[in-house]
Amino acid sequence: MSEDLDRRHFLARLWTWGLGVMAGAAAWTSWDFLQPVAGQSGGPVATVSPDKIPTDSVLEIPAMRGYLTEIEGATEAIWWKCPHLGCKVPWCETSGQFECPCHGSVYNRKGEYRRGPAPRGMDRFEFTIINGVVVPDTSKIIRGAPAGSPETINEPPKGPECLDPTAG
Ligand code: FES
Repeated sequence: MSEDLDRRHFLARLWTWGLGVMAGAAAWTSWDFLQPVAGQSGGPVATVSPDKIPTDSVLEIPAMRGYLTEIEGATEAIWWKCPHLGCKVPWCETSGQFECPCHGSVYNRKGEYRRGPAPRGMDRFEFTIINGVVVPDTSKIIRGAPAGSPETINEPPKGPECLDPTAG
């Protein structure tokens, strides 16, 4: 009898301990998941000198999570995060536009909205030139213009898109 009670007591404790471990793991996972991605709060990021920035393409800068490009003599520092649901938007060299593989939003080289479910164009970063280097500040975001706003550059797609036309 006493041995039976001891065993029950032991099993009850084991369950309690197991549930505690599971609750702790769940809490840690939730906490970890909700943390901002490292560097998301942002700050200044030293990149390259303006003469290294392409005038007919973009330069990906992973440290700033974005791209630099030059349009009509002006530097643009574009955040790669899609304003729809946050996917990284890659540059498509053949079409000369940004094309989001997640749900098909498309933006011109300046990050301006072209089509798709995104509510606006891609966001950009404010930047300064320090010691001859472009320094975007990833904590200072310039929101893209709302979908449907006219494009301010005249660069229609120059070739085939990278998006899979059969993807839904
Ligand atoms: S996240 Fe880019 S279109 Fe949905």
